[in-house]
Amino acid sequence: MRKKIVAGNWKMNMDYNEGLSLFSEVVNMVNDEATGNQQAVVCSPFIHLHSLVQMAKGYTKVSIGAQNAHQEEKGAYTGEISAKMIRSTGAEYVILGHSERRQYFGESNELLAKKTDTALANGLKPIFCIGETLDERNNGTYFDVIKTQLAEGLFHLDEQHFGQTVIAYEPVWAIGTGVTATSDQAQEIHAFIRKEIAAKYGEQVADATTILYGGSCNPKNAAELFAQPDIDGGLIGGASLKSRDFTDIVKTFN
Ligand code: G3P
Repeated sequence: MRKKIVAGNWKMNMDYNEGLSLFSEVVNMVNDEATGNQQAVVCSPFIHLHSLVQMAKGYTKVSIGAQNAHQEEKGAYTGEISAKMIRSTGAEYVILGHSERRQYFGESNELLAKKTDTALANGLKPIFCIGETLDERNNGTYFDVIKTQLAEGLFHLDEQHFGQTVIAYEPVWAIGTGVTATSDQAQEIHAFIRKEIAAKYGEQVADATTILYGGSCNPKNAAELFAQPDIDGGLIGGASLKSRDFTDIVKTFN
């Protein structure tokens, strides 16, 4: 039985006190109301990581993650944060390859493969994001795009390391737009991703891989999306900034 995960991506939101206040609500609501075998993950800005880890102690249903990590172990990279630094806060996950980092910071599949290696080498579980743009959806190249992102970003990993990775399919045209992929559209791509994994690593690894959907997921559409056979949870942006909404999405797996 593969893991059901609902991860919140706060993006560049919540100053120090706002973050502590939001997380205090989330961790208590999820702990009180989530009754299934799901796992919630809160991916905050770096400034919150250590505090949230401390606040989550004893609340096993909530883990902490970062939203990026540098590909090098350490060095003269002013302003950057290393995977080892993130892990030293007690955070367990790291989002890599989010479309906003690919778009605004030019992160290539090759660079993301290096980031993934360094994250894994330092004990972090990558949440590796893939997904097509609106143009790629409209011109019909989206299967090729997804195939390439997987092949160049993740398929250099051996089976053991790949097994520690979560994949998030986030159609770029659904991120922050309120235009959610239909459950059929999302299931089609998730099934394709799982088939690609099976071709590379075999059916057993493919069946065990958690594949999340991200892109305008909210309490109203989560149930239909998460009911799809190859959708194992969500990577949630806007709705993760509201404790009630995020908890309601987590509760979809009750
Ligand atoms: O990483 C999750 C994010 O990209 C989705 O954002 O606001 O459409 O849920 P949102």
